[in-house]
Amino acid sequence: DTGMFTYDPGFTSTASCESSITYIDGDEGVLLYRGYPIDELADNADFMEVAYLLLNGELPNKEEKDKFTHDITYHTMIHEQMVKFFSGFRRDAHPMAVMVGVVGAMSAFYHDSTDISDPVQRKVASYRLIAKMPTIAAMSYKYSIGQPFVYPRNDLSYAENFLYMTFGVPNCEPYKVSPVLAKAMDKIFTLHADHEQNASTSTVRLAGSSGANPFACIAAGIASLWGPAHGGANEACLNMLNEIGHVDNIPEFIKRAKDKNDPFRLMGFGHRVYKNYDPRAKVMQETAHQVLSELGINDDPLLDVARELERIALEDEYFVEKKLYPNVDFYSGIILKAMGFPTEMFTVLFALARTVGWIAQWGEMIEDPTQKIGRPRQLFTGSPKRSFVKVEDR
Ligand code: SDX
Repeated sequence: DTGMFTYDPGFTSTASCESSITYIDGDEGVLLYRGYPIDELADNADFMEVAYLLLNGELPNKEEKDKFTHDITYHTMIHEQMVKFFSGFRRDAHPMAVMVGVVGAMSAFYHDSTDISDPVQRKVASYRLIAKMPTIAAMSYKYSIGQPFVYPRNDLSYAENFLYMTFGVPNCEPYKVSPVLAKAMDKIFTLHADHEQNASTSTVRLAGSSGANPFACIAAGIASLWGPAHGGANEACLNMLNEIGHVDNIPEFIKRAKDKNDPFRLMGFGHRVYKNYDPRAKVMQETAHQVLSELGINDDPLLDVARELERIALEDEYFVEKKLYPNVDFYSGIILKAMGFPTEMFTVLFALARTVGWIAQWGEMIEDPTQKIGRPRQLFTGSPKRSFVKVEDR
């Protein structure tokens, strides 16, 4: 305590808000959405139920679920003028760069839902974001590989439709979505949907605390998620597994991760809150096995490297002492790669799923009467007051 302000770099001990959405017990490795354990939701609920739960606080009954799913699918198309927007980007642009731009541009296309004082407009904007993210994400991918855009099919589930828009090709063999892969995709969305006040969610809340519109706030969240210490870790993790290449090389990388003078860190390891196994990583590991076996991949060298890396790290004194465990990003890349996604798309998928959490948290903030504009203070370390000196006298 400095007398005036508490200095808390990285907000390791500052609660910025009250929230009733997601609960984490980092020591025990527990994650609950509105009270429900993450593994139960991943196994039993589909993503639309999870989205409804996060937004509304309760699981929907059949009628509520059907209505919600219908309302979301109603908004899956994007304005045709937005489709043209993509062609302004370089072909080799990172899809996260495209996402930040296109989602930010939604406030220019849908300004009939940017008045945040109107609950109806807030709801429409929220549904538009959740519905259009898969379309925008799939289009970012199609643009990067030079294939025509595939328009949404509203008879498919949220996950199926996303796979269809990503991997289907118009006028070619119809794309059949495998139920096992669709279930895995759906699970991955559920596992990423919310995680209380992480960096990107805090960014969305901070941006929203000034009264900015939700499209702009979510674009800010996407930017924050992109970094390798946060959502970008899934892409960085797969690149790292590729770089390690073989189990024989693991000890050398473990040694580097422990070296203070080497910037290398084990991607997909460690967490600000979990000082135990991330419960999402467990579900992710099981899902990796299901997907690889569905695809007939009996021997994936990357999975071998990941498993052995985990085994060695969990026995190593450095990792044990610092309580560094695999996090959500450790196994997800293996699944996504097997499903056919290029590494550049991994963080895009995270952003797509996290949009539900961002929107739920943004909505909670707007309705919170105690909410104020976010405005941290600082400890000033610069020059004390001094008099201006003209350039010829300096
Ligand atoms: C996500 O916050 C969320 O909820 C995020 C998330 C979500 O759903 O929103 O869960 C998603 O972002 C998962 C995390 C993805 N990031 C990575 O996998 C990147 C690798 N991990 C680290 O960079 C790190 O563990 C963080 C960023 C995740 C957490 O950082 P903290 O809490 O600031 O901890 P720290 O960096 O201060 O680490 C504590 C100690 C340090 O050593 P000392 O200075 O105390 O000696 O542990 C060491 C670190 O050097 N350490 C690691 C390490 N992670 C931490 N050493 C080697 N490899 C690692 N991965």
